[in-house]
Formats: sequence, structure tokens, C-alpha cells
Amino acid sequence: MRYLVTGAAGFIGSHLVEALLAEGHDLVAVDCFTDYYDPALKEENAAAFDVSRLDLAEEDLALDGFDGVFHLAGQPGVRSFGSAFADYARRNLIATQRVFESATRAGARVVFASSSSVYGDAESYPTAEDIQPEPISPYGITKLGCEQLAHAYATAYGLEAVVLRYFTVYGPRQRPDMAFARVVDALARGASFELYGDGLQSRSFTYVADAVAATVAAMDRAQAGALYNVGGGSEATMRDAIATLEDVSGLTLELVTRPAAAGDVRRTSADTSRIERDLGWRATTALVDGLRAQWEWASVRVAAP
Ligand code: UGA
Repeated sequence: MRYLVTGAAGFIGSHLVEALLAEGHDLVAVDCFTDYYDPALKEENAAAFDVSRLDLAEEDLALDGFDGVFHLAGQPGVRSFGSAFADYARRNLIATQRVFESATRAGARVVFASSSSVYGDAESYPTAEDIQPEPISPYGITKLGCEQLAHAYATAYGLEAVVLRYFTVYGPRQRPDMAFARVVDALARGASFELYGDGLQSRSFTYVADAVAATVAAMDRAQAGALYNVGGGSEATMRDAIATLEDVSGLTLELVTRPAAAGDVRRTSADTSRIERDLGWRATTALVDGLRAQWEWASVRVAAP
């Protein structure tokens, strides 16, 4: 198949590109290389494949001849109040609306990377897709807006879109602003880690290879209009995850506590029955194995000259 991947030099995007290339697909990879975090890390992520620079919010995406677009580009991070909101609006809402326009014109299917943050502090746990979304971060609001744009384009113009709500994805190349990336970096360097809140907030942490497998399955065989939770199987608190990372590294983390961050939810817990039933996907990587892989990757990088 001929696919386009946006956000290809990002954390999940770069793993997805590698998986699609390994399956022998014909691929175009694009990324904006924004400076939300050091673009040199994105160059490193994309070292094994070609990637073109493209700003989806203003440059046109030519999709004629493509079977599908994996739209992973966006402005991530739930701690999104303040002046940064302009970036969230531009890189999520504006960019995504333009991708949907191009995909509609070309008749290409879109798999859109949404987020568990659309649920906010959810009504019930584990949370199924039909729970009313109530995002509590500006970021989550823009992701929910993108989901609704997908629905509007599907209704008005027949866009074939599948929406995936990823739950806190982790593993090698995790974005450097995310919790585990900071924990493994602090362990490897003997530095401290700032824990927001009491550490009892919990997540359905999802290993990146599992997230990629769900994403490929969604492009392959999801019904148009489908919406799926992509969550890691079991829930853990930050304190549990930190203890596991201390175990796998054999090191003790120096913790500094900070107030809980605005926009952070207390808990996420994915009900994944729908994607299991429809696509036969479930997460297969236990947290301890995924954290070991992330620790090994990070410790080698920190030790490298
Ligand atoms: C993550 C991603 O950053 C979002 O882009 C994504 O959309 C979201 O998952 C999702 O699943 O929808 P988050 O769950 O906040 O958001 O992931 P982390 O940044 O890894 O944070 C996990 C927990 O660790 C949060 O409670 C956060 O407050 C805490 N944390 C984070 C710290 O205590 N210290 C830090 O330095 C960073």
C-alpha cells in the first residue's frame, strides 16, 4: 500500500514508519520539526528513513495516489494552558482540518491519533469510548475538536476516518517532556525527578510497539468512522512505575515533589473491549518489560560519548 505518515520524526511516528517499511509498504514521511522539544532528537528518531519537512498548517499535502494517511502530527502535552495555546490550535485544529481536506479530495483513508486526554476526569473507569468526553486541558479540547472535525468531514463528504485514543504511550524515544523519559534520564545521570502531585495518579500506560500495532490494524481493517481506545492493558500509579524503574535499573531515584499540574487528570483506565472485538488487538507488553526496554535505550544513550 502507499501511505503517508505525518509527525513521522516524532516518538510514535518514527516507530510507525519503521514498522510500515518493515512490512514493505511504499511510504512518504513528513514532519514539521517544531521546536516544542529539541529537533535534534527528531533527526535522531528518523535516522533510518527519509523524512520531508512540511508544515501542515500552511503547506499543502498532495495525497493523490495514496491509500491512506496516518495523521500523527500535532502539538502534544496535556500541560497546555497559557500562551502556548496558539500552538495547540494551529498544530492540532488547523493542521488536522487541512489534512482532512486533502484526504477527502484524494479519497484517502485517515487514521487520526487522538488522546485519552479527551475524557478528562472520566465519569467511569475503565472508560469505554461511549463515555461523554470532558477534557480538562486545552490540549484535550483541541484533540476532541479534531475528532469532531473527522466526524464532520465523514458526514459531509464521506471522509473515511478512524480515530484512535492513545493512552500515555511510552518506550524508547519517548518525548523528553514525558514522565518516564524524565525518570530514566534522571536515573542515568544521577539527577532528580520532579514528581507532580502525590504520585498516586494512575495511567493505562501503553508500550509504543503495542500502540503501533493498533495503528496499523486500524488502517488495515477498521470500519470507516470507528473510534477506539488504545490502552496498555493494566493501570499503574506513577509511584508504582517509578518503583519498577528503580528495580530494572538497580538505582534509586531522587524525587522532588511539586504541586499537581493543571490539565493533568487523576486517572486513566482504558476499556479496550471494542478494539479487541473488532480488530483483535490487545496490548501484549507488560509494564515491567516496556520499562526495561525504555531504561536500556536511555541508559545506553546517556553513556554514549
Ligand atoms: C501523555 C502525553 O503527554 C499526551 O501527549 C497524551 O495525549 C496523553 O499522554 C494521553 O494519553 O492522552 P500524560 O498522561 O500526562 O500525557 O503523560 P506523562 O507526561 O508521561 O505524565 C504522566 C504522569 O506523570 C502525569 O500525572 C504527570 O503529572 C506526571 N509527571 C510528568 C510528573 O510527575 N513529572 C514530570 O516531569 C512529568
